[in-house]
Amino acid sequence: MKRTGGGETAKRHAGERAAEAVDDGDVVGLGTGSTAAHAIRALGRRVDAGLDVTGVATSFQSRELAREVGVPVTTLDDVGGVDVAIDGADQFDRETGALIKGGGAAHAREKVVDASADRFLVVADPTKAARGLDASVPVEVLPSARRPVEAALDDLGGEPTLRAAARKDGPVVTDNGNLVLDCAFGALANPDALAVDLSGVPGVVAHGLFVGLADAVLVGTEDGVERYD
Ligand code: 5RP
Repeated sequence: MKRTGGGETAKRHAGERAAEAVDDGDVVGLGTGSTAAHAIRALGRRVDAGLDVTGVATSFQSRELAREVGVPVTTLDDVGGVDVAIDGADQFDRETGALIKGGGAAHAREKVVDASADRFLVVADPTKAARGLDASVPVEVLPSARRPVEAALDDLGGEPTLRAAARKDGPVVTDNGNLVLDCAFGALANPDALAVDLSGVPGVVAHGLFVGLADAVLVGTEDGVERYD
């Protein structure tokens, strides 16, 4: 069951604490979503105060925000990996640190950047905490592969739904030009095995299960930050 307390203050506390963990000279993975955005803004303030960092954005949205607040950006192509990645999550397992991501349809690039990090810090509010994972798993698919991927997800015990765009007719299209299937599996008995199965489906570009990647989860509250290592 989700906890309450997912206000903007809690998200800001988590984002600001993560931004404090960045060292001078670091290359920083810039996650996507409202909580990661607080970290990017806090980094911008640190850059104003003299911090030397370079960001690698995980989405069009995070790149635009970084530019707006004065965080210089580069590409993973240029740097090969990042020192620290700061990214949000839609759900995290308090025991294992396994994540479900992709609520912002950015999980393909997020996974590449977060997995390349020496340190991956997750920023979240208390509503994201869970014992075990049971949220729908976002699956980015090549548009031409939608039907066979839906069938494969069904075979894996899931119920896929094409993600619709919020403000216009038609589906969500990712920064990579692909579609997103939100796949309900119920409670995930074995996220590691499901992650392997999903990765093996032809036409799947990336899924939102991030298993064994997070080094710490910083959970903002109204009063401060709780840390899960
Ligand atoms: C985007 C993501 C986000 O990090 C996730 O959806 C959390 O977003 P928010 O901090 O706005 O709740 O995975 O693909």
